[in-house]
Amino acid sequence: MSDIIKEIEEKYKKLGQDPETYLKGLYHSRPINYWDYIELDTLLTLQKPRTDFPDEPIFIMYHQVTELLLKLITHEIKQIVDDESISTVLFKEKIERINRYAGVLTASFSVMREGMDYDQYNQFRLSLAPASGFQSAQFRFIELYCTDAQLLVNTRVKAQVNDTTEMDYIFENLYWKDGGVDHKTGNKTLTLQHFEDKYLDSLKAAAHKYKGKNIYHRFLALDQNSEDVKELKYALREFDHTYNVIWPLAHIKTAGYYLNSKGENKAATGGSEWQKYLHPSYQRRIFFPQLWTAQEIENWGK
Ligand code: HEM
Repeated sequence: MSDIIKEIEEKYKKLGQDPETYLKGLYHSRPINYWDYIELDTLLTLQKPRTDFPDEPIFIMYHQVTELLLKLITHEIKQIVDDESISTVLFKEKIERINRYAGVLTASFSVMREGMDYDQYNQFRLSLAPASGFQSAQFRFIELYCTDAQLLVNTRVKAQVNDTTEMDYIFENLYWKDGGVDHKTGNKTLTLQHFEDKYLDSLKAAAHKYKGKNIYHRFLALDQNSEDVKELKYALREFDHTYNVIWPLAHIKTAGYYLNSKGENKAATGGSEWQKYLHPSYQRRIFFPQLWTAQEIENWGK
């Protein structure tokens, strides 16, 4: 006990503070409890349905769970991209953590597909327009921490862009812009306009900041013959495939069930031509192309 008291004394003396004040503060402070520590009361008040359908809170909470998992993924990715001297072993451990989170995302998606009443969903969703999961910014930031923006353009311009292409041109042609075109009018949807008003500047800043310094470049800079790097390569392939193929397939299957299982092709709340846009073989979102064979790339999402 005396050792720790001494250490506390030294710590605060070094900071030019009176250790006794801090020890007295410790004496008076309440012991922490579970509910305060994890902000449980706040967390459980963050669900605010817009209708009285009992299944709407499921929709809200599962989106919130997804955003927390995306935050966990981001938390690991940032530690890799922001630490230039990270060891290969730690890099791999962090990608493995990410793979566990991405696995939870894909395995749990049945909470959407199986877990809501079809008729309730199709009524409460009408009060949510023009909001859409399409506006999930964490989803888009993760892309830019993983790979260069030029690899995220639509297939029409992919062959024309390279390292020197203006970022503004790349942003005009990002694959997800196709999800922001109104399938009836061909105009930019309100969903995309709102999203860009809020996030476009910070997305561009992230694209500039992490160009050449993202997960993909960090990997390519390593000695490709080392055993650890080979294992890392498999972990990265797993992430690319889970995030960019398995999750989109689970998601589009769910969208198909609620919006088109009776052949009625209902309009999405975001207004996109969703049946085409959401399919991974259309988006061709591939973070780490050099980790795949030409044939694997050709068959992406099929
Ligand atoms: C019943 C459940 C769901 C249905 C029917 C559904 C439907 C759709 C549709 C139709 C789109 C295309 C954009 C639009 O026009 O609105 C979309 C996009 C999107 N949704 Fe969902 N969604 C569901 C659940 C979720 C959940 C739980 C998340 C998690 C955050 C999510 C995240 C996204 C994302 C990230 C996009 C953009 C995808 C991309 O650009 O690749 N969705 N969703």
